[in-house]
Amino acid sequence: MRSRLSILKLGGSVITEKDKPLTPNIHAIRRLAGEISRAEARPLIIIHGGGSYGHPLAKKHGIAEGFKRASQVFGFSETHQAMVSLNSLLVKSLLESGLPAFSISPSSFIITRNGRIQHLNEEILGMMLEAGLVPVLYGDAVMDSERGFAILSGDQIAAALAIDLEAERIIMGIDVDGLYDSDPKVNPDAKLINRISLGDLPLALRSIGRSHVPDVTGGMMGKILELKAAVERGVEVIIINALVPGNVYRVLIGEDVVGTRIER
Ligand code: IPE
Repeated sequence: MRSRLSILKLGGSVITEKDKPLTPNIHAIRRLAGEISRAEARPLIIIHGGGSYGHPLAKKHGIAEGFKRASQVFGFSETHQAMVSLNSLLVKSLLESGLPAFSISPSSFIITRNGRIQHLNEEILGMMLEAGLVPVLYGDAVMDSERGFAILSGDQIAAALAIDLEAERIIMGIDVDGLYDSDPKVNPDAKLINRISLGDLPLALRSIGRSHVPDVTGGMMGKILELKAAVERGVEVIIINALVPGNVYRVLIGEDVVGTRIER
């Protein structure tokens, strides 16, 4: 069994129906819960995204722009609560699969400044991991010392925790196979990039298409840029398709899975 931390980020487009507001992909959640439990990878932190739960509400209330008017406060609560609901579905499934999943709200131990993590109490997570728990976090509506509040993506959390807790790898489970040399939704000949170095990333990022669903944290481009800091510090980043049954299980037990590896 591995002794260094793995961080698994499950994209919102994997665990929700991204075109239908507040609709979970229950089938994917149950399957993934089974795969994660079966893999017995420890220590492990799971972080999930917002998909059709967090993003449409955050957009509607302009949460990512910060506190501008009193009417947003209710929307801030609603956005957080939508994420809590989605998190409960995942945690419930993980528990049913026999995994000691433990829900923890990023807004309860992280403060941002202008949207960037300013303070993060990693001691709590360290103790949970030591106890054998699997913390389950998510992209959240958080308090921001400059703007009042902000949207903190699961990707930024993943990169920060990987650095602070010296993780071995971040596994990004998304709804496509990885990064391509052009936009696969537009170009049927687009080729999957198996390995890419940080130096070659800017070129690949130019080929990433724009998201057609609300995404207040910058879509695929935002994800990759967030992870750069972790890669620079030697954390391995693997992007895989979490909608393909078996992929998450296989990557967690250390097998090779089709995807993109980002290296220093
Ligand atoms: C967004 O988190 C969270 C909210 C909108 C509240 P992410 O940015 O990590 O979500 P996905 O994975 O892109 O859906």
